[in-house]
Amino acid sequence: MQTAEAAVRHDVSFDEGKAKAFAGQMLGTINGAAVALMASIGHRTGLFDHLARHSPATSAALAAVAGLNERYVREWLAVMTTARIVDYTPADRSYTLPPEHAAFLTRDGAMKNLAVIAQFVAVVGALEDEVVDRFRHGGGLCYHHYDRFHEVMAEASHQSIVKPFVDQVLPIVPGLRQRLEDGIDVVDLGCGAGRAVLMLAQRFPRSRFVGLDLCADAFSETQQEAARIGVGNLVFRQQDLAAVDRLGAFDLVLAFDAVHDQKSPLDVLRKARQALRRDGLMLMVEFGGSSRLEQNLTHPIGSFLYMMSVMHCMPVSLGQGGEALGTMWGVELAETMLRDAGFGEVQVSRLPHDPFNAYFVAR
Ligand SMILES: C[S@@+](CC[C@H](N)C(=O)[O-])C[C@H]1O[C@@H](n2cnc3c(N)ncnc32)[C@H](O)[C@@H]1O
Repeated sequence: MQTAEAAVRHDVSFDEGKAKAFAGQMLGTINGAAVALMASIGHRTGLFDHLARHSPATSAALAAVAGLNERYVREWLAVMTTARIVDYTPADRSYTLPPEHAAFLTRDGAMKNLAVIAQFVAVVGALEDEVVDRFRHGGGLCYHHYDRFHEVMAEASHQSIVKPFVDQVLPIVPGLRQRLEDGIDVVDLGCGAGRAVLMLAQRFPRSRFVGLDLCADAFSETQQEAARIGVGNLVFRQQDLAAVDRLGAFDLVLAFDAVHDQKSPLDVLRKARQALRRDGLMLMVEFGGSSRLEQNLTHPIGSFLYMMSVMHCMPVSLGQGGEALGTMWGVELAETMLRDAGFGEVQVSRLPHDPFNAYFVAR
């Protein structure tokens, strides 16, 4: 770091006020990272859910209802209190999670549960040694290096894609809901845990669904669940999209947050285009940032998304010998690539329930 003395030595102007403000910014950043890690634990242990239901509660009462160790719970509550997430009353040593905060931190909250997203910090943070090594020597990583990635991804996409899909996403394409009711063939590329296709297969029993993913372990639980509850219009297949020549014939191709991770995104989009029947369409969901870094300076979670790119999206593409477009390849490049892949019509929508994603409808 450039010290004030060093700046003077090198005859560089040094703005003390700017330096002080930056130190404050960095300390806030470190605090924020600490809170994100603890929010992840608060979600996994159910502490936010229990505190929302039992506020105000002492650490002992909270630990008892959550079935957790009191000492750990008390220290976690200290993090949450200093972060102003939880209110503390010293008189009776009780803690309260205000309803306005609970709305964003609990499983039954009215809003998106941001603690679900916080889990990614811990999931990818565990790979720091490997990523530092890749900075030095290049190369990539595989999905199996990431403990809990598919699980957390499924929780995150349940909130932004699966739950709102029928009522808020389908209306982007007039008539699509009716076609699904009548019966069409649908494939989900890079389906991950496959919760979206399971929901759709149940909701639209006359349509037929295929979930494709490189990692069979990502969808194996959902596959078993589908078999157990007798969902007969859904199949899952382990498939490397880079290795297949043709995908088959479909009326609707879905790809949720999966194209930028591919070895060759353009190749996958071409295959998607070739797989479409007459009147078929592709619905692709990707992060809605810009392809230009300078346009992302005011993005509310720009740093988080670029961090996910460094720690996960880039390495898993490089691990396949891929292009590593990165999480923030951006709407401009995505649109161009869809056209290069042969789609003549590309429509980009933003939906109020999901401000960070862009929804591409391509025909
Ligand atoms: C970010 S996850 C999204 C998963 C899911 N669509 C969702 O929204 O929860 C990307 C998915 O793409 C899959 N994937 C990456 N490369 C692939 C490839 N070459 N062939 C098939 N699937 C691939 C990964 O296994 C992973 O499940």
